[in-house]
Amino acid sequence: MSENKVIDESKQGEALMIEQPVQPNGKKLFLESYGCAMNFSDSEIVASILKDKGFTTTQDFFEADVIFVNTCAIREGAEQRVRQRLTEYKKAKKTNPDLIVGVLGCMAERLKSQFLEQEKLVDIVVGPDAYRSLPELIEIAETGQKAVNVLLSKEETYADIAPVRLGSNGVTAFISITRGCDNMCAFCVVPFTRGRERSRDPETIIREATELFEQGYREVTLLGQNVDSYLWTGGGLKKENPSAEELKDATTFAQLLEQVALINTDLRVRFSTSHPKDMGDEVLHTIAKYNNICSYIHLPVQSGNSRILEMMNRGYTREWYLGRIDAIRRIIPDAGISMDIITGFCSETEEEHQDTLSLMEAVKYDFGYMFAYSERPKTLAERKYPDDVPAEIKSRRLAEIVELQVKHSAERTKAGVGKVHRVLTEGVSKKSKEQLFGRNSQNTVVVFPKENFQKGDYVNVYVESCTGGTLIGKAIY
Ligand code: 5AD
Ligand code: SF4
Repeated sequence: MSENKVIDESKQGEALMIEQPVQPNGKKLFLESYGCAMNFSDSEIVASILKDKGFTTTQDFFEADVIFVNTCAIREGAEQRVRQRLTEYKKAKKTNPDLIVGVLGCMAERLKSQFLEQEKLVDIVVGPDAYRSLPELIEIAETGQKAVNVLLSKEETYADIAPVRLGSNGVTAFISITRGCDNMCAFCVVPFTRGRERSRDPETIIREATELFEQGYREVTLLGQNVDSYLWTGGGLKKENPSAEELKDATTFAQLLEQVALINTDLRVRFSTSHPKDMGDEVLHTIAKYNNICSYIHLPVQSGNSRILEMMNRGYTREWYLGRIDAIRRIIPDAGISMDIITGFCSETEEEHQDTLSLMEAVKYDFGYMFAYSERPKTLAERKYPDDVPAEIKSRRLAEIVELQVKHSAERTKAGVGKVHRVLTEGVSKKSKEQLFGRNSQNTVVVFPKENFQKGDYVNVYVESCTGGTLIGKAIY
């Protein structure tokens, strides 16, 4: 959201632009986010909506008038952490009775008014599709009433809202391209908390990416629960069975990627998350064609066993998944690949767990996010299958998976030693002020001496050594 906006009524549906800078209302907003990148991106939309009403953001919750916690419901552990925080904030209300505390995001959607009525933990509860109503809900809460809006929408994409980049390094930024998910994986609460899948107007995506580039950003990550199913057919909701006529004018994910890549060769493009059942060769060829589309694919597998994948309702088998990995290696030979795995899903046997380990051996992922299965209310798995793998077996299997991944990550990182990597500099290394850090195309962190480089610079780094997942080298000219 810029301070100087201009009204242009000829551009219907574009960002509503106001001539005067917004007058601060003296109120301070403290925003805390949990969970996935999509949640952090949503918080930037929330900040934008409230900045337009005169709020400023603060990093210090003691000086806040409004505290919002943007929550994640994906696993029980995530919910427990948020509950602890909300309890702390409730205590803070004793010293500041005017303080308003709100819960946003997936837990708000899942627990709805339970937070307000039974637990009396917060004043405001707002689901992921209702952030436009936040200013009114704050006004209601200021009169001492409880305020709630958890309506899910089939159209809302916040396409016209220019996010306020919170905690930004000024180099990398997220852009949401789809919202919601239609996949109904048996373990996943997301389709219930974020609603139906819808794609955002590509024009607004290109505009946002172009503006970011003009402001000095050098990398955008296109975000969606399943980016491969992005499809803009002119309307909000993705059409179930688009006609040939509609498809003629449609924008697919591969076309969107290309359009973003064409903004400028110095703008790097990443995306997350891909779905193995929907990731076609067209997208891979687009990635291979443009140097500024990063050679990195996050391709969650969840399990290496086809019976478990079927129960998970993932829509592919082990063989299909390995076929997609072969396609990536064939079309983008230098690609970095990462995964998500859930261990201990309902009825998973020891042999099926071994299948996950052998799939990992076959792929040799660069990086992974690994979880023990956590049963979530309302999901298909909760309704259909007992959560019957004991906790200690889940932990042991998880430890084996993590150990193997640590080994593979180290091997993959080591393979980068002795080579030159093009690195986009993101900032000063945490360990030394004399060192900078950035990422290569495959998303591996690279550390190198500062010299006269600055964040936002592309630097060719000759890598001499590595530690675990980090490459260490020096610039070459
Ligand atoms: N239990 C454990 N992990 C889960 N994930 C999603 N739902 C669950 C659950 N119920 C993991 C999946 C997904 C990632 C974002 O979180 O691996 O890809
Ligand atoms: Fe959940 Fe599956 Fe959708 Fe990912 S694709 S958000 S795991 S339902």
